[in-house]
Amino acid sequence: MPTEKTLTIVKPDAVSAGNMGKIIAHLERAGFSVAAMKKITLSEAQAKAFYAVHSERPFYNDLVAFMTSGPVAPMVLERENAIAKLREVMGATDSRQAAEGTIRNLYGTDIERNAIHGSDAPETAAVERAFFFSRLEENG
Ligand code: RTP
Ligand code: MG
Repeated sequence: MPTEKTLTIVKPDAVSAGNMGKIIAHLERAGFSVAAMKKITLSEAQAKAFYAVHSERPFYNDLVAFMTSGPVAPMVLERENAIAKLREVMGATDSRQAAEGTIRNLYGTDIERNAIHGSDAPETAAVERAFFFSRLEENG
């Protein structure tokens, strides 16, 4: 089975709570390998650009404020069927609705402070990987 790559971000709530390592361990146990990772604080312009697809949504300004509130840890993850599998292990957007044992169930708080981002399709995974990582960084 060929592998696939996807983009995840450990969000500011999980980084500040000291859950970054536990989330990486959870992902590794679920069969992902980390192909690239970094820890950065997004500027407002960067957060707006990353979530531009949501720019007309009522929660956009709150989302940008949240995503710039502290450091985040973007990572490129690799495994077979990575995009769909990551969405599965993340759980539902609203942490309060996320299935037992999912990352959002374990480490998220609500619909906004939900611990982790995951690309939702091959096209967005490609764009989101390139947003954070060069080809050199992914292959290093
Ligand atoms: P993500 O893009 O971060 O992986 O999350 P998702 O696909 O599960 O959810 P999406 O609809 O793409 O929403 C992006 C992020 O915006 C925040 N949000 N807040 N207050 C609200 O109603 C609301 N809805 C969404 C969350 O942080 C969500 O992950
Ligand atoms: Mg999304």
